[in-house]
Amino acid sequence: MTPDKLPQHVAIIMDGNGRWAKQHGLPRIEGHRRGADAVKRCLKAAQANGVTHLTLYAFSVENWNRPQSEVDALMDLLDRFLRDQLPELIKGEIRLRVIGRYRELPEKIQTRLREAEAATRHFSNYTLGLALNYGARTEIVDAAKAIAQAAQAGELNPDELDYATLRQHLYTRDMPDPDLVIRTSGESRLSNFLLLQSAYAEIYLSPVLWPDFDEAEFKNALAAYAARERRYGKTAEQLVH
Ligand code: FPP
Repeated sequence: MTPDKLPQHVAIIMDGNGRWAKQHGLPRIEGHRRGADAVKRCLKAAQANGVTHLTLYAFSVENWNRPQSEVDALMDLLDRFLRDQLPELIKGEIRLRVIGRYRELPEKIQTRLREAEAATRHFSNYTLGLALNYGARTEIVDAAKAIAQAAQAGELNPDELDYATLRQHLYTRDMPDPDLVIRTSGESRLSNFLLLQSAYAEIYLSPVLWPDFDEAEFKNALAAYAARERRYGKTAEQLVH
């Protein structure tokens, strides 16, 4: 694989924990628990394969609508994940970046996230993005509000607003846009994930249920990406020259 065919930023819609649990005759939360193990495997696979940015859709703004017991279990898993993985992030020199409406998360999670972000903020080679209480439409609304406020304060001229400025107000302002978006479990929706940032991303639909996701499937996605030709609106001939 030539280096220029390696995605810099891979974003993943982790799906299929519930179905995995059902297939194994286990409660849904066991699927999420195995899903958290898959997160650890995936992080290692990304780093081992030279992917510098990995963003995982861990909890959407819509996920609050799940039964309270499942929401609580997901928050507990996240809490444990952050506690156990912080030393690993530091060892691997991986910066943690949270994207989403932070302040609506439980206090103890916010505290852990702040601690983990602060402890890893100086690392620049690898970034793990965790989308928590994330929704692309919410993100765009938050950006629009900030831009409107800046315009009202006279700090920004609406006539000069362009995508580069808009981008500065997205949660992902300090990350490159994803080159490759993976969705597991055979579903083919974007589910309100990084809609603006993924405008030119390649999409890989994996049949694997998230708890079974491993380095082999990560490599399959990288190989599929390497075989594609990104044209950004140009013709195939223009790309050759
Ligand atoms: C989708 O499976 C997955 C989620 C809603 C949450 C993702 C959470 C994890 C992978 C575990 C915890 C994460 C971290 C970072 C520790 P689903 O429940 O929608 O599956 P289904 O569609 O088969 O029911």
